[in-house]
Amino acid sequence: MTDASTGLGPSTALGPSTALGPSTALGTVTLVGAGPGDAGLLTLRGLRALQDADVIVADRLGARAVLARLADEGHTITAEVIDVGKLPGHHPVPQDGINQILVDLARQGRRVVRLKGGDPFVFGRGREEQLFCEAAGIPVEVVSGVTSAVAVPALAGIPLTQRGVAETFTVASAHDQIDALGGGRDHTIVLLMGVNTLGHSAHVLAAGPRGDECPVAIIEDGFGERQRVTIGTLGTIAHLAAARQVRSPAVVVIGDVVMLSPHASTVV
Ligand SMILES: C[S@@+](CC[C@H](N)C(=O)[O-])C[C@H]1O[C@@H](n2cnc3c(N)ncnc32)[C@H](O)[C@@H]1O
Repeated sequence: MTDASTGLGPSTALGPSTALGPSTALGTVTLVGAGPGDAGLLTLRGLRALQDADVIVADRLGARAVLARLADEGHTITAEVIDVGKLPGHHPVPQDGINQILVDLARQGRRVVRLKGGDPFVFGRGREEQLFCEAAGIPVEVVSGVTSAVAVPALAGIPLTQRGVAETFTVASAHDQIDALGGGRDHTIVLLMGVNTLGHSAHVLAAGPRGDECPVAIIEDGFGERQRVTIGTLGTIAHLAAARQVRSPAVVVIGDVVMLSPHASTVV
């Protein structure tokens, strides 16, 4: 059955207990970064891997959107698509289950592409999947992707570095020890997965050298239908985000580079 959402090959929602056939010749696994959701930001090497694949194991966020857009643009991808991402009302396949699916499929002699949003090695658990497969004797190739940490701020006209404004940037998850992040407003911070804990992050960072007036941008759903930019300061952003009902996925940028955005005239 063809997957209606992508127009691509058949789609299967596999759980960790899925029974896979007996092993034949060893296949391969290619970890491909799908980029932040726009098919134009998939690398050529990534596209070739998708076209050569027998089976694609895809995350829902980003990766599935890219597959759908490739189909819309007329690219032929015949591989079976296995969705291990979160579906409404369903839990995603846990990481151990994904690792095992990759190995089991490769042991069937299939060319497996593991398609992940953004870059597989930026908060993507790509290296864990690579090591698990290699420990099972499966050869793994890594095809880097365009990370949302850089491409989504660029949508809002925000460079992470700019001569005379910021010479350093740090990409962090909001789960990190945010108070351990040094530097001032010339050291850009990019937070991924930062929406739910934004109030806490802003409070902690405002208490440090950046201060209350440090500019902050939130870019929601970059390249998606809900794409939206919200600009404030460390002192105002939590209130603004609540008032505008900001939702994941979103990239948060903190530092003076935010003032380079054309949206910065709306700073509150
Ligand atoms: C688990 S991390 C994976 C990051 C991914 N490996 C990358 O390099 O972009 C997921 C987070 O990335 C960010 N993200 C990914 N795609 C995004 C998009 N299109 N728009 C806004 N944020 C995005 C959000 O902060 C989201 O919570």
